[in-house]
Amino acid sequence: MTFEEYYGKKLRLLEDARQYLLELVKQFPDNRELEEAHPIMYCTSRIKSPDSMIKKLTKMGLEADPDTALREMHDAVGLRIVCSFADNVYEVADWLCGRTECRVIEKKDYIAYPKPNGYRSLHLILLLKEEKFDGLSVEIQLRTIAIDFWAALEHQIKYKRYIEHEPLVREELKRCADEIASVDLSMQTIRDMIRENIGEEEHDDTR
Ligand code: GTP
Ligand code: MG
Repeated sequence: MTFEEYYGKKLRLLEDARQYLLELVKQFPDNRELEEAHPIMYCTSRIKSPDSMIKKLTKMGLEADPDTALREMHDAVGLRIVCSFADNVYEVADWLCGRTECRVIEKKDYIAYPKPNGYRSLHLILLLKEEKFDGLSVEIQLRTIAIDFWAALEHQIKYKRYIEHEPLVREELKRCADEIASVDLSMQTIRDMIRENIGEEEHDDTR
């Protein structure tokens, strides 16, 4: 089934909401120091495919029509904001939560509280306040680029019916997730040390 066939007239609303959010994210104030990585590395977005929407609704015992989908599900429109450093994730999330354009409905902090498999991300459900969006809510996932790399690989095992040495694969993925989280923090510390150095250089008259 195509997006048009499933979402019908609502598809336009979803596309508009997606564009609106991408534009909103672009407004994040970039206060980085010269030469520093941008706090937002990239941002991806998607409209949930009819197949996975129907599957999810059916699994929850709900009608599988688009009206129910938009009313009951928060992730028909999804954005993924991939940040350079762990603290950027919170900076961007806090900034988003303070926008007058939306209201935070839910916040799940899988960075402070990782999933048992090692998954780390910050998930926000935002309600778009502008009238034309008709009370639509959207899901925003924020994570570091290192964790995004991990999540892409981990996501693959969800689609496999059989994985050889599955317990080992899961264990190794968990180990990598923990190592990545630790490396993310080290990277942040190193960035801060470099920042301090730059400050010192500027005030160094002996050079
Ligand atoms: P959904 O039915 O997926 O919306 O589940 P939920 O609302 O119970 O879960 P949650 O809000 O925690 O996660 C929603 C989305 O986050 C998923 O659709 C994935 O894109 C992502 N996600 C959550 N957990 C994992 C995970 O363990 N691994 C990966 N790779 N992605 C995850
Ligand atoms: Mg969800």
